[in-house]
Amino acid sequence: MTLPIPDTEAITAAVNTAHQAMLQVDGGKNADYIPYLASVPSGLAALAVVTREGTVVEAGDSRFAFAIESISKVATLALIMETIGRDALREKVGSDPTGLPFNSVMALELAQGKPMSPLVNAGAIATASLVEGATADARWDKILDMQSRLAGRPLSLSDEVNQSEQTTNFHNRAIAWLLYSAGTCYSDPMEALDIYTRQCSTLLDTVDLATMGATFANGGVNPKTGERVVSKDNVPPILAEMMMEGLYTFSGDFAYIVGLPGKSGVGGGMLAVAPGKLAIAAFAPPLDEAGNSVRALAGISAVAKSLNLDLFSA
Ligand code: DON
Repeated sequence: MTLPIPDTEAITAAVNTAHQAMLQVDGGKNADYIPYLASVPSGLAALAVVTREGTVVEAGDSRFAFAIESISKVATLALIMETIGRDALREKVGSDPTGLPFNSVMALELAQGKPMSPLVNAGAIATASLVEGATADARWDKILDMQSRLAGRPLSLSDEVNQSEQTTNFHNRAIAWLLYSAGTCYSDPMEALDIYTRQCSTLLDTVDLATMGATFANGGVNPKTGERVVSKDNVPPILAEMMMEGLYTFSGDFAYIVGLPGKSGVGGGMLAVAPGKLAIAAFAPPLDEAGNSVRALAGISAVAKSLNLDLFSA
């Protein structure tokens, strides 16, 4: 079904107004458990919309490159769903919200070592462990290739972000070993963690992020390159998973307020997808307690509201 896209004038007005609204919102704090993230200027704020036809509307610091962090989990989820199929992925990793923070060890313990969702750290490490390849580099190339095809241009790893994460990711190491002991890490756990950590360390800007989302809004075909990146059948379960767990303990609130599948990252990025229409991406580093960007949430909610994108309001 082809849905009507709001006209470009309406999108431009919505994006500009919402960007101004983002700048009025205070509060939150840069993530600092990854030292690099604490050093990113807190005042940056960007908003972008990319439609399923490839129209780009942007405002603010939309070409500033930031760390993708947890939003990378969506790309690796897509890669593995394409490789082993949605049923196998659901059986091995799960498809339910944990109701607990994104790096919760307790969630893993409560579910006898099953991560529940590919969008929490445990599930993302398990998903990364399913990437096929003879070496860690070969596996990593597949992840980066998927991220790049979704964004519609070659993305690259930031050595600075990667170093910052690889030398401080002790909590994630514990999660990887717990998965391994439960039989839910499907490769060497430290290798899975290595490529998971790399996948979080890619840099992209807000337009790249909106293009990734627009690929899902367009049924898996990147509107910028015209390439089919994800099969049509795999798009709905990816978006369902984003709706259920994309913003962690705030996912229900996000569904309630915005009414769209979304995904956030501790780098300050946030994405929302209006299926069949467009994607909205925002970036601003200060985060709330759940690990979601305070200003990005304000910007995305404002655009979704002014363009009437809530999926639950027919
Ligand atoms: O593994 C971590 O903790 C980070 N590399 C990513 C976490 C993240 O982005 C959670 N998002 N809101």
